[in-house]
Amino acid sequence: MLDQMRATTVVAQKQSFADRVTRTSASTRRPSAPSITARLKKHVTDGSKRRSRSIHRGGDMATIIEIRDAKKRYQLGKDNHVDALRGVSLSIRRGEMAAIMGPSGSGKSTVMHMLGCLDTPDSGTMVLNGRRVDNLRDRELTKIRSQEIGFIFQGFNLIPTLSALDNVALAAEYAGASHGDAVESAKGLLELVGLADRAGHMPSELSGGQQQRVAIARALVNSPAIVLGDEPTGDLDTATSEEIMDVMREINMKTGTTFVLVTHNPEVAEACDRTIRMRDGLVEDDGLSTEVGFDFGTRRRASAHALAYA
Ligand SMILES: Nc1ncnc2c1ncn2[C@@H]1O[C@H](COP(=O)(O)OP(=O)(O)OP(=O)(O)O)[C@@H](O)[C@H]1O
Ligand SMILES: [Mg+2]
Repeated sequence: MLDQMRATTVVAQKQSFADRVTRTSASTRRPSAPSITARLKKHVTDGSKRRSRSIHRGGDMATIIEIRDAKKRYQLGKDNHVDALRGVSLSIRRGEMAAIMGPSGSGKSTVMHMLGCLDTPDSGTMVLNGRRVDNLRDRELTKIRSQEIGFIFQGFNLIPTLSALDNVALAAEYAGASHGDAVESAKGLLELVGLADRAGHMPSELSGGQQQRVAIARALVNSPAIVLGDEPTGDLDTATSEEIMDVMREINMKTGTTFVLVTHNPEVAEACDRTIRMRDGLVEDDGLSTEVGFDFGTRRRASAHALAYA
């Protein structure tokens, strides 16, 4: 897997690092690899352009998403309600891989719905890429979702009647890509997640881990600023779960894509940079107090460097 990714991905914020990985991977590169590399580079470059435009609108370089004092109440009848979020404040930094943990019912999925612009809080503010999003209409939220956010679900959520390739390509077409571009991107990303030889398979002809890889490729196809996973390894056995975490970690390190993963699995959280703990609709611990001067850029380069020479 590492060989495959080394051979097909060269994306880094620093060109010097990109050059190092390119040189290291040259010996294992297949003939089609350069164009895939170029495609992935384009993915990330396009995404960064979009992101930097947002930054110029006044956002904070380091923070990709910020929720302040978000409250969400579900009304279940006249006298019955659930306060799912009771004042959640949370910042996710660009390029980080964060886990959200907490007991069942503590509000993790509700927070993910906010982060993913699937829902807005009743009160409080939310800023994505420097733009207020808590007060946007559904149509604008839908557009932001398709352009800025990738989703990975516990049950994979692939369309059963479409091949792996078409599942990924459809997400790009849905966001406005031409059919040809969508298919080209989908092929490159399936190769990135190690499934080039399964592109024509239907979801029912793939293992759970392979289906989740397709879902990861689909989540990445529109160069999202952030990828959200609600229990992305919840339906997988331990070994496959580790494999999927490895795939996401490598993508995080090599492309700088931000990941936020809800999980009940301590090993998944362990593989992330930071663990946010929720309880009773509040953030109990944002996981930052244990970090001292943590620099994602340095860590990403250092770790990717290690990968390149492993
Ligand atoms: N659509 C809804 N209508 C009413 N109540 C809801 C709705 N969605 C969630 N809730 C309630 O809000 C609270 C938070 O739910 P949420 O799904 O965010 O929990 P969670 O931390 O993701 O739990 P789990 O680990 O079981 O997935 C729960 O008490 C839940 O019952
Ligand atoms: Mg949940």
